[in-house]
Amino acid sequence: MQQLKKQAAKAICAAVSSLFAPLSLSVDEVFELLEYPPETKMGDLALPCFKLSRTLRRSPVQIAEQLAGAITSDAFSEVSALNGYLNFKMNTAAFTSRIVNTVLEEGEGYGSSREGEGKTVVLDYSSPNVAKPFHIGHLGTTVIGHSLRLLHEFVGYKCVGINHLGDWGTQFGKLIVAYRKWGSRDEVEEKEIDELVRLYVKFHEEAEKDPALNDEARAEFTKLEAHDEENLALWRWFVNISLREYQKTYRMLNIAFDSYNGESFYTDLMPPQIKKMKEMGLLTIDDGASVVNLEEWNMPPCLILKRDGSTLYPTRDIAAAVYRKETYDFDKCIYVTSAGQCLHFAQWFKVVELMGYDFYDKLLHVPYGTVSINGEKLATRTGNVILLKDLFAQAIEKVKGIMAQKHSSADEKTAEEVGVGAIIFYYLSNNRMRDINFMLEDALSFDGNTGPYAQYTYARCSSLLEKAADEIPSCSMTAVTEEEAALARVLAVFPEKIASALAESEPSVITRYILDLCAAFNRFYHDCQILSAEDKTVRGNRLALTKAVKTVLGTALHLICMPTPSKI
Ligand code: ARG
Repeated sequence: MQQLKKQAAKAICAAVSSLFAPLSLSVDEVFELLEYPPETKMGDLALPCFKLSRTLRRSPVQIAEQLAGAITSDAFSEVSALNGYLNFKMNTAAFTSRIVNTVLEEGEGYGSSREGEGKTVVLDYSSPNVAKPFHIGHLGTTVIGHSLRLLHEFVGYKCVGINHLGDWGTQFGKLIVAYRKWGSRDEVEEKEIDELVRLYVKFHEEAEKDPALNDEARAEFTKLEAHDEENLALWRWFVNISLREYQKTYRMLNIAFDSYNGESFYTDLMPPQIKKMKEMGLLTIDDGASVVNLEEWNMPPCLILKRDGSTLYPTRDIAAAVYRKETYDFDKCIYVTSAGQCLHFAQWFKVVELMGYDFYDKLLHVPYGTVSINGEKLATRTGNVILLKDLFAQAIEKVKGIMAQKHSSADEKTAEEVGVGAIIFYYLSNNRMRDINFMLEDALSFDGNTGPYAQYTYARCSSLLEKAADEIPSCSMTAVTEEEAALARVLAVFPEKIASALAESEPSVITRYILDLCAAFNRFYHDCQILSAEDKTVRGNRLALTKAVKTVLGTALHLICMPTPSKI
């Protein structure tokens, strides 16, 4: 669509110069003024001429009428004036051919602006807390984060994906105490993370009755921080068990990280930052703790050191940001977490600014809303959690059932791709800030606006092209049906959707686009003969259109972490 806009802008500028010289307009300024009419019946583009009446010293109605008579361009079949608007109807056959050929030429690169070329973005996402369950609350950070990574990669950024594991903190003291009191090596070795979670939950149950356990846990963590050999060995063991478990989920989602440097990694990098804060006079003592006062910015103080001198979550984030800037020299550093952490990020971003680091404005927090399942909230401590792996397993089982009913062969791999894909798609269908109540039945439906439906449409394109088995010619249409033109319009806006998904850090823009594309393709598929078209040229053109849809749909699905089975 951008190209069509540019053609219109050029034609308008040429007409202005010939009609109203010495007055003139620049292509860029006209480009910015052009609008998409709410309905394509009115036209494909419109120029609101009242915005020009000052510069051109005429009434909007006059401008529109004179321009309508003077514009010549092959790209448009009709240029007309109405109430001070100049309306453009595109030459749909030429437009459709041009879009299809552009997609076929550019292939998987179609839609990319390459705006990130030569730039680096660091993305901090997923980042579960070790030895706590990897539950459905982590779905958001994992899939939004990964989708943002894929979007950045698509436009040429060098991406560094970091899993900022929560691998340090008092929870390890708790786990060590619980393991020694109620656990055994054999049990942990056999049941791995499930046993760690059991111990963690058990600790909280027991600590309710006997609060002294909390002191014991703190003492064990202090020993760990002091590099106590025995505690370090246990810690390492717990971390490795958890990592192995996470990897299984990441493999299902086809996610890999460039770095698993978790919070523990920054232990030695914090003291220099704390020293700097002290020297700059940023730290004040508040009830024994060291904090940075942020009253002036209407925020509570940012905690840097506890009374006992131990460091905190923000302290580690500050050290990590400095380390990342030095290591990767990022142009952008993105953090994806639940909206519950908005204040945390606002606070320490401000501290980084106060410390005089000029990269503070390259830090970006991308928050998202809460998830519940069938209305139930989740809480790790009480054990009321739905593990991500269990949710996936459930979805995969259901997919097998549905596919068996449909008499389609559900091999293990396809069932996994459809089941996991359904959950990702459902999750990414909403604006990220919206709170989601997960309904598995809805997510897995093959008929609604779901992942299986989108994958099914993709598989339909694949099988059509496979059946055709001919060389796909380039597209050269002289006439188009309404369905073909509508489909071309959807293909044409893909580059703009990529740009807004990136600008808003909003993968759901792509998910909704996929649904538009699927709807337009399925209408075309039902109303236009493709393989059975009698005219050879028509058949070729429609196959070319199908191939363009398959390409763009494949790219779009990939960008929201969706697998694309070629058969369902
Ligand atoms: N581990 C944290 C959690 O589960 C998320 C970490 C996000 N990243 C960061 N750099 N703070 O809540």
